Amino acid sequence: MKIAVLGAGNMGSALLGGILKAGVLPVDSLRATTFSSGRAAELAERLGVTATAGENSQAAEWADIVVLAVKPGTVPKVVKEIRDVLRPTQILISLAAALPISTIEDAAACRMPVFRAMPNIPVVVGEGAIGICNNAQATAVHRTQVESIFRAIGVTAFVEEEQMDAVTALSGSGPAYIYMVIEAMMAAGVKMGLSREISLRLSEQTVLGAAKHARESGLHPAILRDQVITPGGTTIAAIHELERHGLRSMLISAIETATVHAGKRTSVLLAEIERQKHS
Ligand SMILES: NC(=O)c1ccc[n+]([C@@H]2O[C@H](COP(=O)([O-])OP(=O)(O)OC[C@H]3O[C@@H](n4cnc5c(N)ncnc54)[C@H](OP(=O)(O)O)[C@@H]3O)[C@@H](O)[C@H]2O)c1
Repeated sequence: MKIAVLGAGNMGSALLGGILKAGVLPVDSLRATTFSSGRAAELAERLGVTATAGENSQAAEWADIVVLAVKPGTVPKVVKEIRDVLRPTQILISLAAALPISTIEDAAACRMPVFRAMPNIPVVVGEGAIGICNNAQATAVHRTQVESIFRAIGVTAFVEEEQMDAVTALSGSGPAYIYMVIEAMMAAGVKMGLSREISLRLSEQTVLGAAKHARESGLHPAILRDQVITPGGTTIAAIHELERHGLRSMLISAIETATVHAGKRTSVLLAEIERQKHS
């Protein structure tokens, strides 16, 4: 299996780094492209992969799996560049936020398996959450191949394409919400007289540990929360405050708003792509 990542910026290079670190593929099975030669040289130096500025069609022709990791507005231009070398036996994966599979299929003009993936930023430490959907040409075998790649950088979940806006709002944007929680807990510790360093370390580890416990126990979070509560104790006093200020309701509303916003981004992006086509 040979993979070409077209547009290996932050997300594309995190994917390449994860594949290498997890030993999914050797370095000579990977290739990257960028816009600038400086970035290509930096990637080649850091990861040891063949990286070129441009040469998208050469890289796409060489690969079994082609990953589109450029910015969403650049995807149609890059697909146009590689259209003539695409073949039905390859797999095309887009990481572009908000860009529907149908737009990629139209630009590719090749009946081939197309996947759309929404990773989040913790992929840089191998702990990403990646929502994936696919078109009708993708088989169970293709899905297993694609999953094996993304498992190198986190946890995967297959969804229907119409659920990708919810994935974007929940896990795509989610790290920002959790960084705010860590920041607020740290501030609370400082207010109560702990040093910044100790407050931050305890806050980070509390989030990390609670998430790990929730995953490994397999229990509903409400049960785990109840296990921490002692009647008349400290935790229930704090939980009463959190309920009074609507913590859960606030998060539900925030993710609902972000889901609607993600849908609007698709409309804006498609209008922009139409404008580019006619200019
Ligand atoms: N970052 C995130 O948290 C995140 C999360 C989910 C999805 N995504 C999606 O991932 C994609 C990439 O995002 P990013 O944050 O990684 O952006 P980025 O760091 O700006 O990476 C984009 C890369 O594309 C390269 N590029 C631009 N035009 C090109 C061309 N014509 N041919 C080949 N390469 C070209 C750029 O090269 P130079 O470096 O040389 O300019 C750059 O390295 C986007 O579609 C985004 O929606 C990102």
